[in-house]
Amino acid sequence: MTPAPTLQDQEKQLAAAAALRWVRDGMLLGLGTGSTSAQFIIQLGAAVQNGLKVQGTATSLASEALARQLGIPLLEPRRGLRFDLAVDGADELDHQLRLIKGGGGALLREKTLETASDYLLVIADSSKLVPTLGRFPLPLEVVPFTLPWVLDAVAKLGGAPVVRPAVGDPSTPYFTDQRNHIVDCHFGQIADPEQLARQLEQIPGIVEHGLFLGLAKAAIVIQGGQPMVLKPG
Ligand code: 5RP
Repeated sequence: MTPAPTLQDQEKQLAAAAALRWVRDGMLLGLGTGSTSAQFIIQLGAAVQNGLKVQGTATSLASEALARQLGIPLLEPRRGLRFDLAVDGADELDHQLRLIKGGGGALLREKTLETASDYLLVIADSSKLVPTLGRFPLPLEVVPFTLPWVLDAVAKLGGAPVVRPAVGDPSTPYFTDQRNHIVDCHFGQIADPEQLARQLEQIPGIVEHGLFLGLAKAAIVIQGGQPMVLKPG
């Protein structure tokens, strides 16, 4: 028997449904990763079956497989490709719409497609909105060879780094779609995300970090059971 959806699942569905109303015929879309984005892709797939004409590029192999299965036309990466709208979840967002992303390990492709999008719309259940980022450990995508030195450098910054294990096998590290590792960093409350982002960008071997700053143009967050649109404050 399928378990009944939790309140959080219902909020994710609601946020995804609200985001679908932002989609117009002819749009090129960036498709996010994670359970909230999967809800959006499922609802988008139903709209495509009903005649909506869009094309998209996915931020992970998992989202790509889901979109393909639902008949959403997919575009391969190419020079000059830009997206009208990217819709993606987040692990945390603050009221300035600064994000922590990468809980699903897709941060590199997410940041790439979302930087190539005219508009990033974040969709989130109520648990994701926080006054200060940092309760959720900050993911870094790291080239395997460089891992020991990245761990040393992040520890020096106070990040208490942990190499993410493979799903279902704690004895082996997780690999991203690009065959890199993920390091989850416990900085505690991140008082100055911009400064931390600059510090992480100085460390060789970190391909990308999960701080998404100045990228989100709006967020749909469920509050009191209703979708609320937040803009950077
Ligand atoms: C994947 C992500 C996801 O957007 C983030 O982890 C949120 O996932 P979910 O919607 O399952 O809570 O950044 O890399």
